[in-house]
Amino acid sequence: MALLKIARMGHPVLRQRAEPISDPTDPAIRRLVEDMIETMADAGGIGLAAPQVHVPLRLVIYGLPPDDDGTPAAVPFTVLINPVIEPLGPDHAVGVEGCLSIPGMIGQVPRWTDIRVLYQNLAGDTLERVINGYHARVVQHECDHLEGILYPMRIADMGTFGFIEEFRKGGQHLDAVAD
Ligand code: NI
Repeated sequence: MALLKIARMGHPVLRQRAEPISDPTDPAIRRLVEDMIETMADAGGIGLAAPQVHVPLRLVIYGLPPDDDGTPAAVPFTVLINPVIEPLGPDHAVGVEGCLSIPGMIGQVPRWTDIRVLYQNLAGDTLERVINGYHARVVQHECDHLEGILYPMRIADMGTFGFIEEFRKGGQHLDAVAD
């Protein structure tokens, strides 16, 4: 396994549409996922999309490990290959997001609250998952990376975009930052 270099906002790989993965069972894809897991853990992120490690393929990983007492995480660790998102209703919610490609910054982003995601796993199975809330936010953020979209492009009120350190100094409560 290896730590991969994370592309930062401004790098063209983050603005292009990623290519579909024709064979999810290709060992090279499994190796990429292993390296992305290591890279995400090292960077302290909750999600990572392949374009963020300079690989323009439709692959994202996300999730949290179970709590120390074994309680399953609110966002289970998941590999999504060739994901397709469909909203399940008109409802949106605004929540705080950050991104490993935009270090030190956060902003408040509107996202659908309820979605269905169709995807493939590393075995090549086609699966479907219905998710909501914070979990759905993380998936929308990561899948946006596959379209060349970064979260600041989704912010409705740019007054909410800034340096996390400054918001903390101002006493803003910043639990549950999605990245
Ligand atoms: Ni991101």
